[in-house]
Amino acid sequence: MELSPLCDGFGLETSSIDISRPPSEAAFAELEDAFFVGQVLVLRGQRLTASQFAGFARRFGPPEPHVIDQFHHPEDPNILILSNVRKDGQPTGLADAGSYFHTDYSYLAVPARATTLYSIVMPKLGGDTLFANQYAAYDDLSAAMKQRIESLVAIHHYGNRNDQDEASRTVASVLTEEQKAKMPLITHRIVRPHPVTGRKALYAVSGSSFGIVGMADDEARALLDELAAHATQPKYRLRLKYGIGDVVVWDNASLLHSATLTDPDDPRTLWRITIKEPTREAQAAEVLATTYAQLGA
Ligand SMILES: [Fe+2]
Repeated sequence: MELSPLCDGFGLETSSIDISRPPSEAAFAELEDAFFVGQVLVLRGQRLTASQFAGFARRFGPPEPHVIDQFHHPEDPNILILSNVRKDGQPTGLADAGSYFHTDYSYLAVPARATTLYSIVMPKLGGDTLFANQYAAYDDLSAAMKQRIESLVAIHHYGNRNDQDEASRTVASVLTEEQKAKMPLITHRIVRPHPVTGRKALYAVSGSSFGIVGMADDEARALLDELAAHATQPKYRLRLKYGIGDVVVWDNASLLHSATLTDPDDPRTLWRITIKEPTREAQAAEVLATTYAQLGA
């Protein structure tokens, strides 16, 4: 597999792999390494059915359907359709999703390991995704700030800390009352060691973090805002431009990302699958299933 860097700091891309046929174990191991090293991995120019895309995504871990279930793909509920296209006056997908820096499922106790998008209809203008490298943002903090935040735990819930106006295009995608009722308050460390690489990263300092355990609200918001301003500076960013058929997989534990708004009349469609961090139980079940399969049981 030939990999090229997407920019100086992070991100890898390749045009030399076709994932419509499942990669061998060895080929997938290479892809997975590239994913953890590159943080953003782009596989250009794929042609995939819903089941081929879902089959590929599943190799990275257990998919978790999005709480917004109105736009699940009819062939596979793990696929969320992101689209501004309307048919007979009705939306065919979720529009304007995630147009602010955040990391996926940070409002859940077991957050997302990876998110993968498959680009189907490209707008004439824009539609890029911005990524911000949270390993680098953490590394660059002063020793005093590292010490201050080392043991702090942030309080998260679904939403965008900087925009809670449900009529805005940069609010978190609006939930129904029933969907809201499913969303708990949960906590994550602000300095979160990456679950696979072990390297420390700032975690979800923009997006779903609304407070800090044991800290007054205004002080917590000020600290989170300071960290978010630091962590999303242009020097930590990568801007990904899509072509038709591109598949991107990104590492939610070491990145923030933001969609960029497009013209609502300029058609754009993507499929998205989000992979949760595998829990010990899920990993044990996977090992058992593989063993049974090998035994032919
Ligand atoms: Fe997102």
